[in-house]
Amino acid sequence: MALFALTPPGRRAVRRLALLFDSRVEGAAEPNARGYARFIAPVFRRLYERVTADVASELAGRGDNVGGSASGDDREAGGGRALAILDVGCGPGDLAAMLSERLPEARIAGVDLSPSMVELAKRKATGGGRLSFEVGDVASLPFETGSIDLVVSTLSLHHWPDAGAGFSEIARVLRPGGIALVYDLRLVTLEADALPDVARQAGLPTSRLRHERLRGGPLASLFVRFRLDRAADEPAADVSPAARGAGHARIPAAVTPGEVA
Ligand SMILES: C[S@@+](CC[C@H](N)C(=O)[O-])C[C@H]1O[C@@H](n2cnc3c(N)ncnc32)[C@H](O)[C@@H]1O
Repeated sequence: MALFALTPPGRRAVRRLALLFDSRVEGAAEPNARGYARFIAPVFRRLYERVTADVASELAGRGDNVGGSASGDDREAGGGRALAILDVGCGPGDLAAMLSERLPEARIAGVDLSPSMVELAKRKATGGGRLSFEVGDVASLPFETGSIDLVVSTLSLHHWPDAGAGFSEIARVLRPGGIALVYDLRLVTLEADALPDVARQAGLPTSRLRHERLRGGPLASLFVRFRLDRAADEPAADVSPAARGAGHARIPAAVTPGEVA
């Protein structure tokens, strides 16, 4: 039986079972955001911790201000700005809240299609727009083109009806040099060989969108990470065939005009 699961038909059968299980669990949870927040999100706490550590180390590796050492005044005097982080499909906001604690200088926004999830997430919001939540669709994000430093997402990608449209929109809101880290359950999400098509549908060079297996033990191996890099010299308006950003709001006070270069 275990050997059968390693063959191509075995892998397909396991994937079908996983998709069925996922639709049952989430089918039951989705109308009931409270049920998800209470019983399912806590199960994924270790994932959120891992993602938070990954995000902090990505930002530190890029020399961005992640330690919270500078005060708002210091940042202004030094010409710095708060990092803008967006959690797409944020659910009840557990990851966004953890990121906000770890990265006190960042401004974090969560977006989710479900108003009831966003209602729950808003209980974790903090003043001044440092941690905020709103309803929104990954295929039409309520943020300006080139306004976000880092997009993160957990367990949401396999729900997006059109992954190409989602990645296109994520690429649109990323500033040049920005990155997106999209984590999902390996058994139910996009497979690596589908990625070139998804990149083409998103209007991105195929080399920009990568599929990465997570290292770090049996728990990590349940997940994959999709990584989207926006080239630093890429003009924001060219990245998405559907550049729809005009008129959208930025994460509150994350950046001021002229700072997103
Ligand atoms: C399994 S939950 C994950 C929630 C949270 N990220 C977590 O890790 O606990 C999937 C979430 O994706 C949201 N979602 C599904 N399709 C979406 C879309 N097109 N745009 C934005 N969010 C979406 C759902 O409403 C749901 O809250």
